[in-house]
Amino acid sequence: MKFFIDTANIDEIREIASTGLLDGVTTNPSLMSKEIQRTGKNPDDIIKEICEAVKGPVSAEVISIKTEGMIDEARILSKLADNICVKIPMTNDGMKAVKVLSGENIKTNVTLVFTPVQAVMAAKAGASFVSPFIGRLDDIIIRGMDIIEDIMLIYSNYGFQSEIIVASIRHPLHVLESMRAGADIATIPYSVLLKLMKHPLTDSGIERFLNDYKKIIKSS
Ligand code: G3P
Repeated sequence: MKFFIDTANIDEIREIASTGLLDGVTTNPSLMSKEIQRTGKNPDDIIKEICEAVKGPVSAEVISIKTEGMIDEARILSKLADNICVKIPMTNDGMKAVKVLSGENIKTNVTLVFTPVQAVMAAKAGASFVSPFIGRLDDIIIRGMDIIEDIMLIYSNYGFQSEIIVASIRHPLHVLESMRAGADIATIPYSVLLKLMKHPLTDSGIERFLNDYKKIIKSS
């Protein structure tokens, strides 16, 4: 499974990229607004900087809600870097935009997907990626991972090619379940990516090894 980071924070992106574990980045208007406030930079510069920091796809979301506006924004975004993928919301207008953009070979990521049927519609419109939000479903007591499993099954039944990005991940168990389901990609917040590398037995094991080694150095 590919690991994307779900942030617009360039420091977090560079740090995870330096581990060699990072396959891509997803942003959204909420994450962009945090980064604009943090750095004072303009949105295009933030996106360009992110695209230079990672080789894989970088999703940048449109803020228009009408088809024409989405298409105009997508064309501009797609010129910022070769690895741009334009994030389009799962609406009627959004699907019309995805159809046009896929015809122009502009990569799209259909976002705010909450049902398997929405995921099928995104794939039929020509989306490169589809992003079901599992944490927000868990929040309303609908098991988000069930939707991922359904989408995997339906995509395989019909041979849809869109890659599934498990989004709105809140904790490491979501990542494990995404891998068990065989999802293509998980987009993971920075704090959760750090947790994935941690284990108390790893920490205590390092401590014990170092203490044992120090004893030898002292006695020699
Ligand atoms: O990738 C989608 C993600 O940014 C939404 O996450 O935690 O706001 O539901 P969350």
